[in-house]
Amino acid sequence: MSKEQPPWDLDDAGWRAWPPVQDRVDPPWPAEDAVLNQVVLKFGGSSVTGLAGWQVIEAQLRERLAAHEQPMLVCSALSGVSDLLTCLADEVFGDEIQACLLQLRKRHIAQAAELGLPVSLVADLLTGLEQLIHGARLVGELSPRVRARVLSAGELLSTRLGAEWLRRQGLTVARLDARELLDALPCADPVRRYLDARCAFELDPGLQGRLAARPEQILLTQGFIARDEAGDTVLLGRGGSDTSAATLAARLGARRLEIWSDVPGMFTADPRALPSARLLRELDYDEAQELASMGAKVLHPRCLAPLRAAGVPLDLRCTGQPELEGTRIRGARSGHPRVKAVSARTGIMLVSMDTVGMWQQVGFLGQVFGAFASHGLSVDMVATSETNVTVTLDPRSNDLAPAKLKALLNDLRPFCRASLIGPASSASLVGRRIRSVLHQLGPVLERFEDREVHLLTQAASDLNLSFVVAPDEAPGLVRDLHAQLFSGPEDELLGGSWERLSRAQAPPAAEGWWGPRRQELMDVAAQGTPVYVASRSQLRRAAGRLLGLSSVDRVLFAMKANPNPEILRLFEGLGVGFECVSPGELRRLQELFGGLPAGRVLFTPNFAPASDYQAGLDAGALVTLDSVYPLEHWPELFRGRELVVRLDPGRGDGHHAHVVTAGERSKFGVPADDLPRLFELVRDLGLRIVGLHCHAGSGVKTPTTWRDKAVFLKGVAAELPEVRFLDLGGGLPVPERPGMPALDLAALDAGLASVKGGYELWLEPGRFLVADSCALLTRVSQVKSKGGRHFVGVDAGMHTLIRPALYGAWHEIANLSRLGEEPTLQADVVGPICETGDVLGHQRLLPPSFEGDVLLVDNAGAYGASMSSDYNLRGRPREVLID
Ligand code: LLP
Repeated sequence: MSKEQPPWDLDDAGWRAWPPVQDRVDPPWPAEDAVLNQVVLKFGGSSVTGLAGWQVIEAQLRERLAAHEQPMLVCSALSGVSDLLTCLADEVFGDEIQACLLQLRKRHIAQAAELGLPVSLVADLLTGLEQLIHGARLVGELSPRVRARVLSAGELLSTRLGAEWLRRQGLTVARLDARELLDALPCADPVRRYLDARCAFELDPGLQGRLAARPEQILLTQGFIARDEAGDTVLLGRGGSDTSAATLAARLGARRLEIWSDVPGMFTADPRALPSARLLRELDYDEAQELASMGAKVLHPRCLAPLRAAGVPLDLRCTGQPELEGTRIRGARSGHPRVKAVSARTGIMLVSMDTVGMWQQVGFLGQVFGAFASHGLSVDMVATSETNVTVTLDPRSNDLAPAKLKALLNDLRPFCRASLIGPASSASLVGRRIRSVLHQLGPVLERFEDREVHLLTQAASDLNLSFVVAPDEAPGLVRDLHAQLFSGPEDELLGGSWERLSRAQAPPAAEGWWGPRRQELMDVAAQGTPVYVASRSQLRRAAGRLLGLSSVDRVLFAMKANPNPEILRLFEGLGVGFECVSPGELRRLQELFGGLPAGRVLFTPNFAPASDYQAGLDAGALVTLDSVYPLEHWPELFRGRELVVRLDPGRGDGHHAHVVTAGERSKFGVPADDLPRLFELVRDLGLRIVGLHCHAGSGVKTPTTWRDKAVFLKGVAAELPEVRFLDLGGGLPVPERPGMPALDLAALDAGLASVKGGYELWLEPGRFLVADSCALLTRVSQVKSKGGRHFVGVDAGMHTLIRPALYGAWHEIANLSRLGEEPTLQADVVGPICETGDVLGHQRLLPPSFEGDVLLVDNAGAYGASMSSDYNLRGRPREVLID
């Protein structure tokens, strides 16, 4: 028997009676038709959360049964639950563990309610988890072994509910314990053994036969978890559910694996950066592996090896659009060579090694690569000449901290003259037999006439051709390459564009807040365009969502996002505070409210003169310092004061490099190296540091950012006894495109609750409070077609909304005059400014549009009007609040 019995009983007594794995005697091969008909379907977190996903699952299962296939379902945890469990494990000894457990309960109670199931179904699993946490707290230890058990709860919970729901729809379902199906390979390192295990994936006729012989219609099991040779629960690491499903499919010799998620498959480019990216209908394993390794998130690269070895085909499908065929991944077939995708990477470092004197020296490469290996650095691309070897290091697979790179250069010194070049960016083309398509690239490569290419490599596999160029160059290069290579009609390889497919999946654009109020907006536009229109009720809703977070004690509005007086008044009335960065912003508040709202204003200037700090202190704002310079050079200004300090956590995040406001390349925050000096100055000047502050960047998509920052600030606060609050900054994202998931506020709240300790937690968002409450209305001035490209000209431009030109930001654009008309025109929406960058949207799908039409540019409430200018002396836009 296994040493560790899973603490959670699965609900199939029959399954429990099976012989344990160690004693297994494989039965003879079962009848051939039983074996050949197994298909494995894996559904990700967003697919198994809520009723709609399960209805799709049921329909798919019935289709497979009708085709005489035996479906095996592999399910992830409900979306956000793995983060919650990680949080539980990280904070197991913290004060907020109860709040975190409560969130976990709430998520599953809500799921049970939506599926019409009794909550009691999962009560024992939740209690088991609580006992496990309690036990870990009692013994004061959470080993990797116990951590794996905590993290495995999500899949056990989701499958318990899912299996029961399917049964209630009249299907017979066996809920199998994945730990009885997947055996992890031995591993000496305890962390990898329990948290990042690997499984053998050889065909297992015994398992195949036993499952084929099950009487139930549907077999259902958990992704992500397996069992090691001691019978302990282990996890398969990142992308673990894909790996579980692929391993099972390989071991069963399944007819097919289907991975269902919220995107329809793999695309010719990263669709978040390039919405004209096209769905790839067919790829071979190597191409898919290359794309997954380069960052295509839909698939974890690790899951392809089992499938390739077993020759199991893989279909990527979309739960929101089950009618789409998605991407089919198969063994390589002959056919004419074709580029399948282009991708950009940024933040790459090059190490150039001059080998003069080492020419033809035996073992040179061995020595230098040994140095990389000893620093745990994995080399990505390599180019060699007679006197130089240059390699690239990718930040996604390496820690490129300056100290580490410096140590590497030191270690290389005995062998060569090594230097660092970078950061740089790279543009890569992926596809089989890439060498034979070079002639298609001619026009795009012309741009290198006056630009430097640091390195050009072509993978030995003939699958990848990469150009390493200047840091900002790759995204533009990729856009041009993409337009050159993938603008043809749909065919056996290329499906529809991301923009078109995601539009079909999302509710029609007219269902935004402004859809039902079209006439009202047309009336506003009739008074003059361009005009920003904000909805008061939407603004209230956005504020209410943050004010309702139980772990957050104060919400400040970063007023730089939109300092419109009426918006400020509305927020003030709701109890929101303000984060200001200039004397001008302070003045606006003073004028509006006859002084600053007491205790609710934080003044966070950066590289400001002493007079700005003086203005903040005089106005009675709580002043934030983000450097020790002001204390060292203007000590008398601050002596004995209450202050806040903004720290640099060492790593930032954000929707674009320009808005990443932490990490060594950003100018913000007191770096860790300066902390001893800060503490010294605090003592010498008798300062009372009442709050610590940290802002990672804007449009941050990593949901754990704020919690991680709280943990970081708490660590520093331990040295500063008067700290009362931790300000975790802003950066909360708003979905920009149809189909993009919204920030999971419940998970954010739970994460924060788990680390709060005795501190108040503050947030200071700009975008989240205003972005999607406001739209920009603009009128079509002229239309034009040129060289097959269409342009729709409007009276707003980069002077009205600079975000597309400055950050390549995406704003949905709709023709308000023609809502509901078929979007058959693909056009660049451009403004009247004398720059080619004056674009509001590239290659947008619109109905044929004409002079006088009113276009609506959505999500324009944050950094829209506030960043507008009078460039070309075209005047600033009007701003109007409605309802
Ligand atoms: N706190 C501090 C200290 C900040 O510097 C910022 C924004 C915020 C809070 C609010 O960040 P939010 O929640 O809005 O992401 N113009 C860019 C955004 C620049 C943000 C500057 N700092 C854009 O249009 O995306």
